[in-house]
Amino acid sequence: MWTLNLQILKFHPDNPKYGETLSKSIAHLREAGLVAMPTETVYGLAADATSGVAVAKIFEVKKRPQFNPLIAHVSSLEMARAYGVFDAVSTKLAEHFWPGPLTLVVNKSSGSNIHDLVSAGLDTIAIRCPGGSARQMIEAFGRPLAAPSANLSGKVSATTVCHVAIEFAGEDILVLDGGACNVGIESTIARVMDGKIKVLRTGSVTEKQLAEYSGLPVETEETGAEIRAPGMLTSHYAPRSNVIINCNAALAGAAILDFGSQNTSGDYQFQSYRDLSPNGDLREAAANLYNYLRELDELGRDDICVAAIPMEGLGIAINDRLVRAAAPRSRLTDNMAIAPISEKIIDATTSGDGE
Ligand code: TXA
Ligand code: MG
Repeated sequence: MWTLNLQILKFHPDNPKYGETLSKSIAHLREAGLVAMPTETVYGLAADATSGVAVAKIFEVKKRPQFNPLIAHVSSLEMARAYGVFDAVSTKLAEHFWPGPLTLVVNKSSGSNIHDLVSAGLDTIAIRCPGGSARQMIEAFGRPLAAPSANLSGKVSATTVCHVAIEFAGEDILVLDGGACNVGIESTIARVMDGKIKVLRTGSVTEKQLAEYSGLPVETEETGAEIRAPGMLTSHYAPRSNVIINCNAALAGAAILDFGSQNTSGDYQFQSYRDLSPNGDLREAAANLYNYLRELDELGRDDICVAAIPMEGLGIAINDRLVRAAAPRSRLTDNMAIAPISEKIIDATTSGDGE
């Protein structure tokens, strides 16, 4: 039987009840409750980062392994400094990219009262300052919010309130409906280390931008390499259907996820066809990625064939998520155009570890 326990409230600064909803959310957080909130990247499942009881609920509801640490969300760099040690380069990056889709991994500061569950026993902590209403909520709450993406562990992240509601219908969560997320994929995670910047998870803040604003060389961790962001398991972001990437011809009966109108054969049904961006715009594609993957997955087809996405700018992060979505049960086709990606798939097929 399907029971709806969660409560959904409109959450937009233009909404006349915005202030009331904000107060209600804060009261719920103070009682160690969970609030699903929109951010510019994806929806987050937020709890008071200083409360062990509240943070434990996140792990329980998400079915997330406790070795996988969470991001602490703050409302300013000043607030972040109470929890993490910001060297000159991390400070510069935070000043430039915050509020926004960049998470910085820094050493924990000695006086931090963020609960140990958040950083899963590591000496470091991942910190991000989101924009918009999420930031206003943290500011009003006055404490950091631990918030992973609002999806069951190992599944595709939620970019609309509908995704959150479907996955957590039976849970006692206050869900804030702020519409679809603008960016659509999770934040870039970076760490300043040994005179370099290591990108632990790609996102809409690119290597090039990080290099430009830091003046340091930037390296991106390989998929399947030693895991530095512990949540970056090879088979993350998995739909139920097999995901086959870099296809230039679809398998019979497969759903098709196109990009830039590459599938021009006309041999498809509207129901099982989506184009991430008919004009080939990578920002639009990122914003549509998880929603379209979920919609096609709902059809219950054996396969979702995904067209090639260029490996440039935001396309790097989109390809990273697709490689992970393809990892658990991927089948290789002859059509894989991008060599490094197909090599990664072969690795992923043999390792196949899931959360
Ligand atoms: O865009 C985002 O980052 C979203 C929104 C809600 O802010 N959050 C998000 O959280 O994607 P989550 O929990 O789904 O992913 C956080 C990632 C995980 O892969 C985790 O392993 C990594 O951050 N992480 C957390 N703390 C870390 C640390 N101290 N060192 C390295 N990686 C860390
Ligand atoms: Mg996640």
